[in-house]
Parts: sequence; structure tokens; C-alpha cells
Amino acid sequence: MRKKLYVVGMMAALMLGGCGQGEKQAEAPATTPAPVEQAMQQAQEAAGAAVKQAEQAALAVQEKAAAVVEKGEKAAAEATAAAEKTVDKALAPETVTLDNKMGKITLPHKKHAEAHGCATCHGDRKPGPLKLGKEAGHALCQGCHKKMQAGPTSCAKCHQKKAKATEGC
Ligand code: HEC
Ligand code: HEC
Ligand code: HEC
Repeated sequence: MRKKLYVVGMMAALMLGGCGQGEKQAEAPATTPAPVEQAMQQAQEAAGAAVKQAEQAALAVQEKAAAVVEKGEKAAAEATAAAEKTVDKALAPETVTLDNKMGKITLPHKKHAEAHGCATCHGDRKPGPLKLGKEAGHALCQGCHKKMQAGPTSCAKCHQKKAKATEGC
């Protein structure tokens, strides 16, 4: 009974002693001298400001670089478009003949190309051979002639009839 109490007492003393030491160690940093703390804070603030400045400078450089790249890309795109147009014009035949049962059609192709642009007839695709057929041909050709009140709208003015094909009109 006595022995037991003694052991408990020893353990309590050890625990208290241990805790006391721990507290002392934890308190240690708080006792850093004020001037050192101040210097550290100032250094941290200076470093923070320097980082901010560097970030801002990097951002400015990035923005400038992006603007330069954008300008370059724009110029390249314009040059490509201009070159493509020149090539297109060189490709466009002077006249195009559409042979069909109603009578051969002679389209002043280049004249139309220069006045209305390739896409009017060729669409978004690269200009080249174009199969129209009656419905699409009439819609496209007569459609524009009627709308603009210019160009032939009567059968014989487009279809150069063979001697026999007169009944069509
Ligand atoms: C008024 C309508 C029209 C316009 C505008 C037009 N084309 Fe065409 N083009 C045609 C038709 C119709 C043909 C079909 C000829 C064929 O397939 O027999 C054709 C055929 C062509 C061909 C193939 C010629 C061949 O002999 O195989 C080229 C190349 C061409 N066009 C280029 C152009 C270019 C380039 C432009 C613009 C600068 C242009 N065309 C504008 C109607 C047009
Ligand atoms: C502005 C020009 C234009 C006029 C005007 C026009 N046509 Fe056409 N026609 C075309 C074109 C273009 C085609 C299609 C040719 C092709 O696909 O090669 C066509 C095709 C046809 C075809 C089909 C021929 C075949 O081989 O399948 C017939 C039929 C026809 N036209 C009849 C007429 C008649 C009838 C009139 C008058 C009422 C007329 N066209 C007026 C331009 C015209
Ligand atoms: C976007 C409008 C437009 C389209 C599409 C168009 N034309 Fe024309 N076409 C005109 C105009 C405008 C004129 C009159 C030009 C002029 O008098 O200088 C004309 C004139 C013509 C002439 C008479 C040329 C001359 O010198 O007398 C013919 C033939 C002709 N077109 C055929 C066609 C055929 C075939 C097609 C379809 C494959 C067609 N056109 C599609 C606008 C168009």
C-alpha cells in the first residue's frame, strides 16, 4: 500500500516535471529579441515586394510578346489571303462553256468572277469544275440576272440553241 502510493507519486512528479520542461521549450521562440524579429519582418516584406515586382514585369513582357505574335499572325494571314486571291484570279478561265441538251451556254467567266467573286458560284470550296444542272443553274444564273435586272433572262440569250431545240421555249 505504501509502495504503491510512492510509485504513483513518482510518476506524477515525472509527468509534471516533463510538462514543465516542455512548456519551457515551447516558450523559447517567443523570447527572440525584438530587433531580430523586426529585421526578419522587414526582410520578408522586401522579399514580398520584390516578388510582386518581378511578377508584374513578367506579365508585362508576356503581354507585349502576345501582341507581337498577334500582329505577326495577322500580317501572315493577310499575305496568304492576298496571295490566294492572285492565284485564284490567274486560275479563272476567261470563258466557260456549259454544254447541255437545251443548247450550249457561254459564260463570260472571268467577267463574272471579277464582278461578283468566286464564292458567289463556287461557294466556300476551292474554285474548280462545277456541275450545276438545270435547277441549280437557273436559280443561280437567272436568279441573279433577275435580281440585278442585268444579264440575260430569256432562254435563247443563255442557251445558244441548236437549230432543232426551238420547241423548248
Ligand atoms: C457566275 C458564276 C461563277 C463565278 C463568279 C466564278 N465561277 Fe468559276 N466556274 C463557274 C462554272 C459554272 C464553272 C463550271 C465549268 C465546268 O465545270 O464546265 C466554273 C469553272 C471554274 C474552273 C474550272 C475550269 C475548268 O476548265 O475546269 C475554275 C478553275 C474556276 N471556275 C475558277 C474560278 C475562280 C478562281 C473564280 C473567282 C475569281 C470563279 N471561278 C468565279 C462559274 C463561276
Ligand atoms: C441565265 C442563263 C440561263 C437562262 C436565261 C436559261 N437557262 Fe436553262 N440552264 C442554264 C444553266 C446554267 C443550266 C445548267 C447547265 C449545266 O448544268 O451544264 C441550264 C440548264 C437547262 C436545261 C437542262 C439541260 C440538260 O442538259 O439537262 C434545260 C432544259 C433548260 N436549261 C431550259 C431553259 C429554258 C426553257 C429557259 C427559258 C425559259 C432557260 N433554260 C433559260 C442557264 C440558263
Ligand atoms: C451574282 C450575279 C450573277 C450571277 C450569279 C450570274 N450572273 Fe451572268 N451576269 C450578271 C450581270 C450583272 C450581267 C451583266 C454584265 C454586263 O452587262 O456587263 C451578267 C451577264 C451575263 C451574260 C451576258 C454577257 C454579255 O457579255 O453580254 C451571260 C451570257 C451570263 N451573264 C451568263 C451567266 C450564267 C450562265 C450564269 C450562271 C452560271 C451567270 N451568268 C451567273 C450577273 C450574274
